[in-house]
Amino acid sequence: MSVSQWLYILLVNTTTVLTVGRLLLRPWATHDVDFVLAAARDSAIGRYSSVGTATSPAAAQQWISARVEPDRRDWVVVMASQPVGRVSLARINPTDGVAELGYWVLPEVRRQGVASDAVAIVEQHAFVTERLSRLVIRHELENQASCALATSRGYLAEGTERSAFERHGLRRDLHVHGLLATDNASRD
Ligand SMILES: CC(C)(COP(=O)(O)OP(=O)(O)OC[C@H]1O[C@@H](n2cnc3c(N)ncnc32)[C@H](O)[C@@H]1OP(=O)(O)O)[C@@H](O)C(=O)NCCC(=O)NCCS
Repeated sequence: MSVSQWLYILLVNTTTVLTVGRLLLRPWATHDVDFVLAAARDSAIGRYSSVGTATSPAAAQQWISARVEPDRRDWVVVMASQPVGRVSLARINPTDGVAELGYWVLPEVRRQGVASDAVAIVEQHAFVTERLSRLVIRHELENQASCALATSRGYLAEGTERSAFERHGLRRDLHVHGLLATDNASRD
């Protein structure tokens, strides 16, 4: 790792609290175990997120511990003082200026713009604070909700990564969307 990458990790590598409007985004804490277990019980979250493996308190605690990594920022989305979702930047590569965006929200708050608002805050953080140039969203082809969210936030569909990974013995394709800092600057 280069000196500039170490400096970047020392200076920027913290998941800071972000707020806008009705939402507060904060780092994960040990007391989030019950929230993680509730999320893992949802079939869509369980299917499309790594949190789906957190089906016991010990596994939930392990999943929370893994939210802190040098190339990751991972937030709990809080609304009306309740944890309702998660948004993350993963595989942050400061040299290339690229990161991958992830998200989920509990079923009871879906279709209310919560994920869109949380993603918008994190885009601002990624492009302005972390000075990244490109954000990527990858979702399974049949995940229409994720595709709709990416599209509504202005992420261009860039193609399909065929046979990107394996789950339950089946190879899966991933649909790739990208948003550039310059796209972000030119929209409302
Ligand atoms: C994907 C997910 C995060 C969307 O969260 P949400 O808070 O309901 O999304 P929003 O209310 O902000 O909606 C964003 C846009 O997507 C659309 N949308 C959301 N869910 C949709 C669905 N099931 N079908 C079609 N469109 C949908 C909304 O209409 C909105 O479009 P608009 O801005 O043009 O009106 C949520 O469905 C979820 O947690 N799914 C399970 C986990 C998951 O799939 N994570 C992503 C893995 S890649």
